[in-house]
Amino acid sequence: MFLCVMSLFVTFTVCKSFPSRDVYTNHWAVRVSGGPREADRLASKYGYTNLGQIGSLVDHYHFHHSKVVRRSAFSTTGNHIFIRMDPKVDWIQQQVIKRRVKRSARSDLDMLTFNDPRWSSMWYIHCGDKSHRCRSEMNIMAAWQRGYTGKNVVVSILDDGIEKNHTDLAQNYDPLASFDINGNDHDPTPRYDPTNENKHGTRCAGEVAAVSNNSHCTVGIAHHARIGGIRMLDGDVTDLVEAKSLGIQPDYIDIYSASWGPDDDGMTVDGPGPLAKQAFELAAKKGRKGKGSIFVWASGNGGRRGDHCSCDGYTNSIYTISVSSTTESGTMPWYLESCASTLASTYSSGETYHRKIVTTDLRQRCTEGHTGTSVSAPMVAGIIALALEANPLLTWRDVQHLLVTTSRPAHLKAHDWKTNAAGHKVSHLYGFGLVDAEAMVLEAQTWRTVPPQHTCTEASDNRPRYIRPDQLLRVSMNSTGCSEQPDQKVVYLEHVVVRVTIAHPRRGDLQISLVSPSGTHSQLLAKRQFDNSKEGFRNWEIMTVHCWGEHATGLWTLEIKESPSRLRIVHKPCPPHPGKLKEWTLILYGTSDHPYNRLSHLHTSVAETPRPEQQLEEPEEDEYDGPCHPECEKQGCNGPSAEHCLNCVHFSLESHQAGRMCVSHCPLGYFEDKAVRRCKRCRPGCERCVGWAAGECHACRKGLYLHDDSNTCIPGCPLGYYADDVHRQCQKCHTNCRACRLDSERCTDCNEGYSLSGMMCVPKCASGMFFNLEEMACLPCHDSCSSCTGPGREDCVQCAANFLQEEWMCVPTCSQGYYPDHTTGSLPTTCQKCEEQCLNCSGPGITCTNCREGYSLVGGACIINNSCNNADEIFCEMVKSNRLCEKKLFREFCCKTCFIAG
Ligand SMILES: *[C@@H]1O[C@H](CO)[C@@H](O)[C@H](O)[C@H]1NC(C)=O
Ligand SMILES: *[C@@H]1O[C@H](CO)[C@@H](O)[C@H](O)[C@H]1NC(C)=O
Ligand SMILES: *[C@@H]1O[C@H](CO)[C@@H](O)[C@H](O)[C@H]1NC(C)=O
Ligand SMILES: *[C@@H]1O[C@H](CO)[C@@H](O)[C@H](O)[C@H]1NC(C)=O
Ligand SMILES: *[C@@H]1O[C@H](CO)[C@@H](O)[C@H](O)[C@H]1NC(C)=O
Repeated sequence: MFLCVMSLFVTFTVCKSFPSRDVYTNHWAVRVSGGPREADRLASKYGYTNLGQIGSLVDHYHFHHSKVVRRSAFSTTGNHIFIRMDPKVDWIQQQVIKRRVKRSARSDLDMLTFNDPRWSSMWYIHCGDKSHRCRSEMNIMAAWQRGYTGKNVVVSILDDGIEKNHTDLAQNYDPLASFDINGNDHDPTPRYDPTNENKHGTRCAGEVAAVSNNSHCTVGIAHHARIGGIRMLDGDVTDLVEAKSLGIQPDYIDIYSASWGPDDDGMTVDGPGPLAKQAFELAAKKGRKGKGSIFVWASGNGGRRGDHCSCDGYTNSIYTISVSSTTESGTMPWYLESCASTLASTYSSGETYHRKIVTTDLRQRCTEGHTGTSVSAPMVAGIIALALEANPLLTWRDVQHLLVTTSRPAHLKAHDWKTNAAGHKVSHLYGFGLVDAEAMVLEAQTWRTVPPQHTCTEASDNRPRYIRPDQLLRVSMNSTGCSEQPDQKVVYLEHVVVRVTIAHPRRGDLQISLVSPSGTHSQLLAKRQFDNSKEGFRNWEIMTVHCWGEHATGLWTLEIKESPSRLRIVHKPCPPHPGKLKEWTLILYGTSDHPYNRLSHLHTSVAETPRPEQQLEEPEEDEYDGPCHPECEKQGCNGPSAEHCLNCVHFSLESHQAGRMCVSHCPLGYFEDKAVRRCKRCRPGCERCVGWAAGECHACRKGLYLHDDSNTCIPGCPLGYYADDVHRQCQKCHTNCRACRLDSERCTDCNEGYSLSGMMCVPKCASGMFFNLEEMACLPCHDSCSSCTGPGREDCVQCAANFLQEEWMCVPTCSQGYYPDHTTGSLPTTCQKCEEQCLNCSGPGITCTNCREGYSLVGGACIINNSCNNADEIFCEMVKSNRLCEKKLFREFCCKTCFIAG
């Protein structure tokens, strides 16, 4: 720092290129007891203005000092600082702005720079670009700085092939992790065509393992990992093709990344066939020599078509890590599909003004335009590669536990963040939140494999129940978590799966939720506007991770609601047969022992009783008159080594393995009792102590943390503390945090009266306000919001009265091309997009009033000009009488006939 101060005077530019440090404001937070009068008195004594109590925090005041430079790089000095020493002041803190910048600045202290030309554009990894707000909360660079870059980890991309001789991939390319299923050979090179249709796999591969510092293109997240490609999407994809792809080199490939699935068209329900299902199970059991293959899956891009990833059997599988995306500003991207099986999220693209992802591209190129949830699966695959380098013994379930415990909501905006009964924050949009690479590798280092997976399948409930429009059907099941069967017993939950068979006239009208015994709601299925299928669900399995860590026993409730869409009413004049729940089954996955409770292990090792003294003395009376060990006292010895002393010069040490011997210093785990010249054991788990008593332990054994309050060594720190791996201590979180992680200022939960903004706890503001860190004050939201996270109109969390939500903005009236949605209540709160090709409409379905050019308005629908040809009157009558007019193709053939019929 001194160097920086000096150079500030010498040349400004030198210092500028130094990482920025904390920026102090002229605002202070002060804790004073004795009431507001006393606070006023203290403020004026030292030249401050008391701006009043901070939020609802009694005895905490906001002081302002006008003579201090508004923003300074250094903690200020001057007479006013003597307030710190005033006995009436319990605590005082000068406020520092923009903790996000600060934290990154801290890691910037030895910021890695790479000579790859696109490095500066990799906003989601580092904060090199000063013109945008810093977005490096995934802490990837911090994980690199801890030495993890994916060495010895093998990742393979299941896709349309990879350009293995791309200059930025060739060095990390691994032919043993590659295969071409489409061409049935070992070369995954994509098929080149003029449209570069098969560029996807190469783009995904670069995100994971682009070679670093080779003056070419970009830097991969796991840039020392090996990367392969399994080419399988460029051809007919069958169950067989999928099963083959999932089973390539299971002992060699650690992580498979897949960014594909059934059509995200909002009307398909599809998943792995019987072979692919078996392949998943086999890979989890046998892959990676029994630790289980790791599959990372993109949750899907069907957001705009109202798709829901619970209809995608791949993301729904317990064997896949389903990942979602958020934009750089933490908003929901337009393509996002929400569902309860999403585990975590990464940054990706969003609206046109949001930045996209930089990676390798086909034909030796680079791109700054990689988009969609396709981005997120390889990113998470890369981050898991870092964690596997930190701990190669992690099983497929350990990796999922790590993602659950280390991902964070950060600044991700969603209406539905909730805390489940195990204390995990979770959302249907983002799962457990943004992945945190540094937290992953740190946790991985000391991770102990979780207990074995148990599966408890509750008896199916097959009493049929009718599903009536606009009535909620609730069916419940008491679960004991199979407590009678020791090998199935589930106490602590991981995944929960519901298998349903439902007959229904229009599948898209169904909504299904599950309520856990602890009261956690998972939405298993949302309405899908485009899903007209009459097939219902047949033994369809829907998975939720929202109950992770909760208890399994108690009452589980399935809630089914049907809200008939207008489409159905318009097209179905005759009364439809009602829907019916025919059968449902609850399948609980989890463990019977607590997954992280290392205390039980500790107790067993502590229970070792000291060996009875008598056995130690070997009755060896044979004469010995050779020299004694220097640690032996003058009484002599009956042998040459330190075990043969009759008395010790310094200390005698007794241990299980070595018996009794004389030592000059006591080893770790013992303290020196000078009075009796013996090494005595520290308390269980303690490595350095000065005595047995509580309060005398100074350092804990590896994997344990010293908790100051109880002075014991514990495997995990209590709420309000974080585990400091360097000092092996539980350190207190920042005063405003209820919980934090890795650092006292990385809050994950706040105390009463505070709420999370990024990683910092700021005073909660009245509704309609947000906390502005620079002003240290609550400021009003944009007019269009009723609650918000910032000043802009895009920062709304909820819209103000008389405003409608339209694609994550709040608008006074729906824009052209959107209509007010009345289905949620009598007053609309959202604007929905009109049907395709329709410029303006009055409601859902075929209510169009204006069409795009080249289309004509016929009966509320936009029909392409030259296809509406009323082919053959007889054919069209037949189409009409068979009610085929609902099908777009027939409608365009016979539009007049069809629309006259309504
Ligand atoms: C990249 O290479 C440059 C030399 O071209 C070197 O100065 C720099 O330290 C390297 N960066 C890393 C992260 O290894
Ligand atoms: C990469 O491989 C392709 C096809 O095998 C070949 O046409 C191209 O010249 C190679 N490019 C480089 C840079 O080696
Ligand atoms: C579940 O168990 C509770 C308490 O034992 C009982 O009151 C309730 O009726 C049971 N519900 C069902 C659906 O079996
Ligand atoms: C779109 O239609 C609505 C209702 O039919 C009407 O109120 C509105 O003015 C129209 N907007 C435009 C831009 O044509
Ligand atoms: C399509 O038809 C409409 C009316 O039927 C007409 O106004 C419009 O000009 C036509 N557009 C094209 C591109 O032929």
